[in-house]
Amino acid sequence: MPEEPAESTDRSAVRSLLRLWPYVRPVRVRWISAALVAILASCLALVIPLILKWMVDGPVADRDPGGVWLGALYLLLLGIAEAALFGLRRWLVARPLAGVEASMRADLYRHLQRLPVAFHDRWPSGQLLSRGTTDLMLMRMFLAFPLTFLLVNGTTILVGFVILFAQDWSLGLVLLAPAVPLMVLCSLFETKYALVARRAQDQVGDLTTVVEESVLGIRIVKGFGRNRSQALAFRALAQRLRATELGKARLLAGIWALITAIPELAIGAALVLGTIEVADGGLSAGTLVAFLSTALALRWPVESIGFLLAMSQESATAADRYFEVMDVAEEPEPAPREEGAGGSGQGIVFEGVEFRYPDAEPGSPAVLARIDLRIRPGETMALVGATGSGKTTLTALVPRLHDVTGGRILLDGEDVAGMERSRLRELVSVAFEEPTLFSATVGENVLMGAQGAGGQELRRALSVAQADFVHELPQGVDTQVGEQGLSLSGGQRQRLALARAVVGGPRFLVLDDPLSALDVHTETLVEAALRRVLEETTALVVAHRPSTVMLADRVALLSGGRISAVGTHQELLRSNAEYAWLMSGAHDTGVLVPEEGNAR
Ligand SMILES: Nc1ncnc2c1ncn2[C@@H]1O[C@H](COP(=O)(O)OP(=O)(O)OP(=O)(O)O)[C@@H](O)[C@H]1O
Ligand SMILES: [Mg+2]
Repeated sequence: MPEEPAESTDRSAVRSLLRLWPYVRPVRVRWISAALVAILASCLALVIPLILKWMVDGPVADRDPGGVWLGALYLLLLGIAEAALFGLRRWLVARPLAGVEASMRADLYRHLQRLPVAFHDRWPSGQLLSRGTTDLMLMRMFLAFPLTFLLVNGTTILVGFVILFAQDWSLGLVLLAPAVPLMVLCSLFETKYALVARRAQDQVGDLTTVVEESVLGIRIVKGFGRNRSQALAFRALAQRLRATELGKARLLAGIWALITAIPELAIGAALVLGTIEVADGGLSAGTLVAFLSTALALRWPVESIGFLLAMSQESATAADRYFEVMDVAEEPEPAPREEGAGGSGQGIVFEGVEFRYPDAEPGSPAVLARIDLRIRPGETMALVGATGSGKTTLTALVPRLHDVTGGRILLDGEDVAGMERSRLRELVSVAFEEPTLFSATVGENVLMGAQGAGGQELRRALSVAQADFVHELPQGVDTQVGEQGLSLSGGQRQRLALARAVVGGPRFLVLDDPLSALDVHTETLVEAALRRVLEETTALVVAHRPSTVMLADRVALLSGGRISAVGTHQELLRSNAEYAWLMSGAHDTGVLVPEEGNAR
């Protein structure tokens, strides 16, 4: 499962972060100049001790006030230059990095659109959301701060130590001594921190999922009075995240304390030893001042390394989480193949189609075991079957929302597996049980069903779907609907989804129980209009009610993962007990019980 923390053993933060390079490449010149500017600024600070040394050993020792003023002026100018350079760095780097984040986010979104439906069945949406928000922000911050400052501070420390050793190598060694234990501590810390950071980020994803589900399902939550239990579940997750974050803070506090304390001790030791040396006359007072102020100037670069490493670690985790999604293969675009000239003729043909969900239990029977069915050109075939028999699954195979795991589906003799996706989806239109409307106008929602369709097609589709109610909406077809707009009733939404399916005048139409939410009168109206559309296309229509079945020329009965009977409504009613039972409505009252075996 995606939420499992990555094993820390074969994972290297550097390797994860290196994968950001393609995104950074376009802005590399700016980024590198910014880093150079920052290095320059940071090293300028190291000149200050040298000026101090010159002042102490020169003008101060000689009691020359003019020299002291000059020294002070140099210090002031250095300070201003340092500040200006840091400002320049920010300016250089802010805009390009925002661009990097934006392009990574765009890539993620585009990728998500192209991932197979099976991927979305498997991944909780909150995990995807948190990757698109928090994780991307962490990566941008990494490029802006830790990456730059690890470089800047590293260089500063290096230059600083060169200066220290130039002043007095024995005191320099005293300061350098703690470096080795510090490095060991840092690497220990990193390993631990990587695990906790990953856990925290995954938990943010889980939390996002819960929030999203309860917002989307707010009616159920309220309707069943589940507010309390929902809130409790949320609180439990939030507590878990809090505990993880506290663990993170504890680790960080520990390493921070060590990183601060150890250099502090070393500086103290150097101060004592240095003073003794000055007293012995082996060292000038100015040199000691310069030495100590260099050491103090290096304190911040050294201390910051702890949290820079922590931030890098979090960003590496974020990069892992991001690329986990990016690495999932998109739906492959098939290479154009020879037409399946298997003499299968025209229309929609299912040949020994077998399908099993990728996440199904290994030993369980396939949802669709062996489907053989031929829908003649221009014909409307109703698909009838008990609930859970696999009707929705079968319809999803035609536009290849899922790929068959055996057999093939031919549209006018051409295997859908070999068709370019865009062409396939132009040929086939779909409407599903749960009509989804997007946050857009009514017109945009319907026209989504066809590329390049205009006002005329829109009006025709709306009238076919008996969706004339839209003209009474506040702004007609320009009324905003969907999550951010006007709420429509279930039947209204179904009719819009139906309009979307027929707007492009598709060759093949796949409707999954498109009339289930309509009242009897509207249903009659829609059926009358739909009849006209169905005349022009080859259609597969999932039907639960006799009235919908009546639209079809023939009926196929799906049972036990196979098409167990095909015929007209009347024929099947007479000859097939299961069909008669499904159509009779008697099963609602429990009067008639069919033989077992229809529900897989
Ligand atoms: N994404 C999925 N992953 C795994 N199994 C699934 C998935 N979707 C459906 N199933 C299983 O496949 C079987 C068939 O489901 P399907 O939705 O096709 O039934 P249906 O005939 O459309 O039912 P209904 O009449 O209630 O709409 C069910 O047992 C269901 O549990
Ligand atoms: Mg269904």
